[in-house]
Amino acid sequence: AQQAPDILSPAFAADPYASYRVMREQYPLIWHEGMQSYIVSRYADVEKAFKDPVFTSDNYDWQLEPVHGRTILQMGGREHSVRRALVAPAFRGKELQEKFLPVIERNARELIEAFAADGSADLVAQFATWFPINVIVDMLGLPREDHARFHGWYTSIIGFLGNLTQDPEVTAAGLRTREELAAYMIPVIQERRANPGDDLLSALCTAEIDGTTMSDEDIKAFVSLLLAAGGETTDKAIAGVFRNLLANPDQLAAVRADRELVPAAFAETLRFTPPVHMIMRQPSADVELSGGTVTAGKTVTCLIGSANRDGERYADADRFDVFRQDLTTANAFSAAADHLAFALGRHFCVGALLAKAEIEVGVNQLLDALPDLALAEGETAEEQGLFTRGPASLRVTFTPKG
Ligand code: HEM
Repeated sequence: AQQAPDILSPAFAADPYASYRVMREQYPLIWHEGMQSYIVSRYADVEKAFKDPVFTSDNYDWQLEPVHGRTILQMGGREHSVRRALVAPAFRGKELQEKFLPVIERNARELIEAFAADGSADLVAQFATWFPINVIVDMLGLPREDHARFHGWYTSIIGFLGNLTQDPEVTAAGLRTREELAAYMIPVIQERRANPGDDLLSALCTAEIDGTTMSDEDIKAFVSLLLAAGGETTDKAIAGVFRNLLANPDQLAAVRADRELVPAAFAETLRFTPPVHMIMRQPSADVELSGGTVTAGKTVTCLIGSANRDGERYADADRFDVFRQDLTTANAFSAAADHLAFALGRHFCVGALLAKAEIEVGVNQLLDALPDLALAEGETAEEQGLFTRGPASLRVTFTPKG
């Protein structure tokens, strides 16, 4: 048997999918001393960790609290159900369709117009990292001049959360962002409470269930979570769709010719190269998983990136195939029954429908605006990252728009 892969090693960073295979086949349950965590890699075990209520998210708190404050990601039980029910309606289909689709379309158009005449662009730096942040700022009803300011805060927050080497400057920037975002948001929240409008922030300020409302601090923390949870993921998903299609030119041509395939390209990208590769859970009692017993109170790292490549679940799992029959693409919520990129269970991504809308609009507009799309010379679009993963750049060339 091969040695158990170490997810903190350079070999793993270079090609996690090869290590995932070894883990699924030979080491479905690993204890990692450095991370002080169990690691599970099979679809069935990751699914169980998301769905079985014995698994909690309590152990997120130490990581997320310093930068966000207390968010629904860290909560469980009734505290989570009530807080989640307060925020979820704004992300449902009807709200999104009626109110926010024009916001999504406008932001995609503006970003593309800025480079469409150039004949080349980096789709990560010039499109994917900005698009979801600009959309959220507009949805919240905040000034559009502040897009760049929020993009800066977003960059510091995800830097803080991905700071594996504990770089003190990155830590300091994250903590400073918490203060700056609070100083900006709290007065605006108070103003919206007094004079609510038709925007997402007003909806959060006025939401009420059985007399429970969100405090100013709750709302500020949720906005901070939206930047991180909605930004980096959507960024990596858009870059991933194009990376996967550019690597499979026949599939790119098929999607370009038949836009009904765009949802399939999105769903298959989330399966094949999910933006979030691993998330943590903590069992409240001892629990059996493939390969042994996990002890109550210990951290379990759940490898989404591996579960989504499990040959027990998907035919020819290591092949990107927008035509595959074992994924549902009708809507983001049914897609969730098929791949684990949005998790499952009580913390299932609140923004899944928004992400789907953003990506479909973004991909369609980019395909319309950029004919003959090809990777720029020397661009490998290599994936980077451990907990979240995606291409760090995606330089492309195309026929300039006249
Ligand atoms: C939760 C993935 C887009 C907001 C999650 C979780 C995952 C995820 C895996 C579960 C985390 C956990 O259980 O620990 C993704 C992916 C996206 C995406 C892959 C894009 C393709 C968005 C967007 C928003 C958003 C656009 C909103 C603007 C949230 C929130 C939660 C969450 C608020 C916490 C839900 C809860 O704890 O109940 N997402 N997400 N996400 N996501 Fe997303």
